[in-house]
Amino acid sequence: MKRIGMLTSGGDCQALNAAMRGVVKGLSENVKELEVYGFNNGYKGLIYGDYRLLTSADFSGILTKGGTILGSSRQPFKLMRVPDENGLDKVEAMKQTYHKLNLDCLVILGGNGTQKTANLLREEGLNVIHLPKTIDNDIYGTDVTFGFQSAINVATDAIDCIHTTAASHNRVFIVEVMGHKVGWLTLYAGVAGGADIILLPEIPYDINKVVEAIDKRTKAGKGFTILAVAEGAISKEDAALSKKEYKVKKKNYQYPSVSYEIAEQIEKASGTEVRVTVPGHTQRGGSPCPYDRVLCTRLGAAAAQAIIEEDYGYMIAMINGKTKRVPLGDVAGKLKVVDPECQMIQEAKEIGISFGD
Ligand code: F6P
Repeated sequence: MKRIGMLTSGGDCQALNAAMRGVVKGLSENVKELEVYGFNNGYKGLIYGDYRLLTSADFSGILTKGGTILGSSRQPFKLMRVPDENGLDKVEAMKQTYHKLNLDCLVILGGNGTQKTANLLREEGLNVIHLPKTIDNDIYGTDVTFGFQSAINVATDAIDCIHTTAASHNRVFIVEVMGHKVGWLTLYAGVAGGADIILLPEIPYDINKVVEAIDKRTKAGKGFTILAVAEGAISKEDAALSKKEYKVKKKNYQYPSVSYEIAEQIEKASGTEVRVTVPGHTQRGGSPCPYDRVLCTRLGAAAAQAIIEEDYGYMIAMINGKTKRVPLGDVAGKLKVVDPECQMIQEAKEIGISFGD
C-alpha cells in the first residue's frame, strides 16, 4: 500500500499534468494498492487541508492537457515561516496534514521557490520527491526543466509572426520573452526565431551597441530588425547600481517593462520607429510539446521508482539524457544561469547576433 500526496506550486506550465500522469501511471503499474491525494492550489492545499482523493482515472487523458488539474498558487518561501493572518504556523500545518493522511511521500512539482519549500519539509522530516518544473529552465542540478521546450515553441512562434510584419513595415520590433531573472528562454527562442539582437540578464547591454547593431543592418539594406529581450534584461548602467539604488530606480520606473525603456532609447538615438510585443503568459499556455511529454513521462516514471524504493529527499533530474536522483539539500536555493562565455553564445555571435555587449 502506498499513500502519496501531490501538489503543483508556483507559475504553471504546459507539462505539469504530463508529469503527474507519469508518476501515477508508474506507481499504479507497480504497486498493489495506491491512494493519491491531490492538494488543491499548491502549498495552500497542504497548509489548509484542502485535498481530493484521486484515482488513476483522474490522470488518464491528461498527457496533452496544459495547466494543472490540481490548480496552483504562489506561496513565497520567505513567508513560509511567517504565520498567516490568523496566526497559523504554516509549516506545522503542512506537517499535520501530511501525518493526518498518513502519507508515505509528497510529490511536489514546481520551480525554485517550490523546491526550497520542498527542501524545508524534507528537513522537517517529511518524505518528499521534487519534479523540476519551470519555463525559465533555471533549476540548478538538472539539464532541463519541463515547460521550457514548450515555452520556447510559443515564444519562437511569436518571433516568427513578428518577422513577417516587421519585414513588411521596415520596422524595429522588440519581442519580450519571459524567464524571470535568467535568459534561457530568450536565448533559445531568440536563436530559433532568428532574432538579430538578443538581450539577456546575464549579459548587461550597452544601448549604444544595440543601436550600432540596428544601424549596421540598415546600412546593409536590411529594413527591419528583431530584438528578443528577456523580461529581466538589464543595462550596463543599471547593473552597476547598488541593490538599493536599483530598487529606487524600479520604484519610480515609468515603463511597463524593460522593453519599453529600450524602445524609447532606440527611437531617441536613431529616429527609428520601434514596436514592442509581449507574448507574456501565452508562453506558459497551451499543450506541452512532444519533447516535454517525453521528458515528463520519463521523470514521472523515475519518481515512481524512487517512491517504490522508498528513496526520498530528491529532485528527479535529467542529466546527459538520463534521469537521476539529485539530493534536494545539494540544489535547493541555487539558480542555474546562462554562462555568457558558453559555446551557444559564441556561436550566435559568430553568425552576427548582437548581445548588446
Ligand atoms: O517562473 C515562471 C514565470 O512565468 C516567469 O517567467 C515570470 O517572470 C513569472 O513566472 C510570472 O509570474 P506570474 O504568473 O506570477 O505573473
